Amino acid sequence: MNVLVTGGAGFIGSHIVDRLIADGHSVAAVDILATGKRANVNPQAALYEIDIRSPALAAAFEAARPEVVFHVAAHASVSESVRDPMHDAEVNVLGTLNVLQQCAAYGVGRFVFSSTGGALYGEPERLPADEEHPVRPLSPYGASKDAAEAYVRTLCSLSGIRYTILRYGNVYGPRQDPFGEAGVVAIFANAMMRGQRPTIFGDGSHERDYVYVNDVVRANVLALAQAEDGVYNIGTGEGTTVAQVFDALAGATDYDGTPEHAAERSGDVHRIYLDVRRAERGLGWRATVPLGEGIRRTVDAMREAEAGEE
Ligand SMILES: NC(=O)c1ccc[n+]([C@@H]2O[C@H](COP(=O)([O-])OP(=O)(O)OC[C@H]3O[C@@H](n4cnc5c(N)ncnc54)[C@H](O)[C@@H]3O)[C@@H](O)[C@H]2O)c1
Repeated sequence: MNVLVTGGAGFIGSHIVDRLIADGHSVAAVDILATGKRANVNPQAALYEIDIRSPALAAAFEAARPEVVFHVAAHASVSESVRDPMHDAEVNVLGTLNVLQQCAAYGVGRFVFSSTGGALYGEPERLPADEEHPVRPLSPYGASKDAAEAYVRTLCSLSGIRYTILRYGNVYGPRQDPFGEAGVVAIFANAMMRGQRPTIFGDGSHERDYVYVNDVVRANVLALAQAEDGVYNIGTGEGTTVAQVFDALAGATDYDGTPEHAAERSGDVHRIYLDVRRAERGLGWRATVPLGEGIRRTVDAMREAEAGEE
């Protein structure tokens, strides 16, 4: 199939591109390399450096003629969204709308949207949070994803496009930016490998649903085979504290120091993990990589990447 992946140079998008190419699809990636890197993009994919907000996006659709679009590009930082909600909304809401309009114009059959479970439900009133949990985002980022989901449902229904919305937990794995503000596994691992003390915001009791990137990619690929529309949480169904992640990473990197602590960040949920039974039933998906194993793979990949740079 002809497939277009927005955000194809980013952490999750580049892994989706790799898998689609391995499965024999013809893949176009759209990315302005805001946080993504050219080096992440599979050489067999065509890269279009076009902003998802721009009318020029039509050129990528014209050239690639996609049958399926994975919309992964976003401004994906909770804390930056608190500082600059306008930019966040421009990329995540208006950008998504522009991608959807191109999909309608070019007759795309299926739209797979990377959304968030971790930032959508707010501080959950029940755990694990299922897809019917009230949506009460604490951050502008979560609000922008909520708005984008509404446009996905509406525009896809109007244009006869089938959609799958995947609400991820905290995704981690190789290629995650260790210098960003999100992605605690990559940030801590990078600091520990350099003998620097990682900073924990709060007391370390924040709980998240950490899901390995390959599992997330598999959920995206399974969405290709869906006949119906669907909204699915994609996580492990288990909560892990930041302190537990710290300990697991310390073991994997042979770090014997202690963390530094700083004030909690506004917009951050305290405790969330996702009910993933709907994805099991509807997609035939469940997470397969336990946290310890995923952390080992991530640290190994970071060491390999570092050795390659030297
Ligand atoms: N990483 C997580 O834990 C997580 C959790 C829930 C949801 N998500 C969602 O998954 C998706 C991918 O996240 P990620 O962690 O890979 O982040 P990322 O920052 O690595 O990927 C986003 C990509 O989008 C690109 N991009 C940003 N603005 C753009 C624009 N205007 N035009 C074109 N490209 C643009 C960036 O350059 C980057 O390559 C996002 O939609 C994010 O909201 C991620």
